[in-house]
Amino acid sequence: MKPDQAAHNYRLYIETVGCQMNMLDSELVVAALRKQGYQLTADIAEADTILFNTCSVREHAEHKIYSALGRLKHSRSRRPDQVIGVIGCMAQKDQQLIFQKAPHVDLVVGTGQLAQIPELVAQSRADREKRVAVSLDRRDATRQQVSDSFQSYDPLRDPEMRPSPFQAFVRIMIGCDKFCTYCVVPMTRGPEQSRPPKDVLQEATRLAGEGVREITLLGQTVNSYKYTVDGRIWRLSDLLESLSGVAGIERIKFVTNFPRDMTDDLLQAVRDLPKVARYLHVPVQSGCNDQLKRMKRGYTVEEYREMMARIRATVPGCAVSSDFIVGFCGESDESFQKSADLLRECRFKNSFIFKYSPRPGTKADELFADDVPEEVKRRRNNELLAIQNAISEEDNVALIGREFEILVEGLSKTAKKEQLDDPRVGGTIQENTGTCDDHPQLVGRTRCDRIVVFEGNPRLVGSLVDVHVTDCTQTTLIGSIVTREFQHTGSDLLPILA
Ligand code: 5AD
Ligand code: SF4
Repeated sequence: MKPDQAAHNYRLYIETVGCQMNMLDSELVVAALRKQGYQLTADIAEADTILFNTCSVREHAEHKIYSALGRLKHSRSRRPDQVIGVIGCMAQKDQQLIFQKAPHVDLVVGTGQLAQIPELVAQSRADREKRVAVSLDRRDATRQQVSDSFQSYDPLRDPEMRPSPFQAFVRIMIGCDKFCTYCVVPMTRGPEQSRPPKDVLQEATRLAGEGVREITLLGQTVNSYKYTVDGRIWRLSDLLESLSGVAGIERIKFVTNFPRDMTDDLLQAVRDLPKVARYLHVPVQSGCNDQLKRMKRGYTVEEYREMMARIRATVPGCAVSSDFIVGFCGESDESFQKSADLLRECRFKNSFIFKYSPRPGTKADELFADDVPEEVKRRRNNELLAIQNAISEEDNVALIGREFEILVEGLSKTAKKEQLDDPRVGGTIQENTGTCDDHPQLVGRTRCDRIVVFEGNPRLVGSLVDVHVTDCTQTTLIGSIVTREFQHTGSDLLPILA
């Protein structure tokens, strides 16, 4: 498309909810609109293009978007040229319903049509017509037809939209075929489709050239990755090996894993490839076999345990994190206690715990009553969280006194807040060249994905440093950079780290 000539003045406000896949989608949409001359703004009041990149996994996420849309009801009267778009999972799921609930919305664009956004925004601004661009419903067409209607969209990148200039997401597959009974994702993101390895490698190489040092490979079930090239099947382990050869990339993570697809070749790759994080996010969802069956997860507690044992045996010291759903249909006190027991047994690094939220269009919503009262869901959520927090703290305490290699990600939350509050600094990262005493708090992660804060020169952001852990909280290790003594080797001085 020819750039929209008038777009050079347009201001884009984009709000993103949901998972890392959504964050990546927003990065791509922003990059495409910037190419048309759009500028990003953090102030919704000055925006002439407002996009909500949405999530449908739980009802709460949808409520948040409908409330935000409600607040924009009268903003068109102040800005007649304004375009409001709802994009992503909710757009695919609710389609026309969005116009009924929020008549001032102009565009509804699903996860498979994001590439069309620059054109759709320009058209909508020109003729003020409403537009819907979504993929086929999985129930209405063949698998191939539905797959074709969900286009992957990864051509452009935008450094400003990344978690930090040194970290980037790389999509290796889209969609999901697991059809867990509670989940909307197979509908909102379509059939599972893996990306060709050469495209992934090319993208990683380009990102490395832009200074990225850590990539996180994304897929709804990332370890189900499979792509055939000239008769050879590429699995995630093959991809990790190839990506390890990309100069400049120091760390490779991948999320989210499906328990049944945690094959030995993948675990061996995690063990043998030094750039690959020793960290696996493998959601279990429940510790009760009846619940797992109702969820249609395709494994039993015993099989999950066996997988955990293989992880521990193959990759010693590997951190594992999980997701749990509490209050799923029919969850008794006894079945909930089985989740609590499994959590105690597996000692996850951290767990994301969710209260079950019935989703229209899913099998669980159709077949089972949402019969656990909200109050009980809340109690179970808090109980599981308390068990997890105690485990995280105990395991963190055991790491005090040890040294870890950290990839420095940026200023810590505390340091960012201090900078914003300090009128002399005004929110920019100050290159501190003074003594150690002046250094702000930085944050980074170990190879096992543990968060570490320590004082250091902001120039270290993006590099690997050794940190000695001196203290901890439930969620964070606290330490100091290991300062090496000056060592004389002939006339050479080895550099010190901090
Ligand atoms: N209700 C609550 N949690 C859900 N998840 C997915 N669908 C639902 C739902 N309907 C959780 C699962 C998944 C995570 C991304 O969200 O734990 O792993
Ligand atoms: Fe949803 Fe299950 Fe697919 Fe995960 S594996 S995205 S929970 S359907």
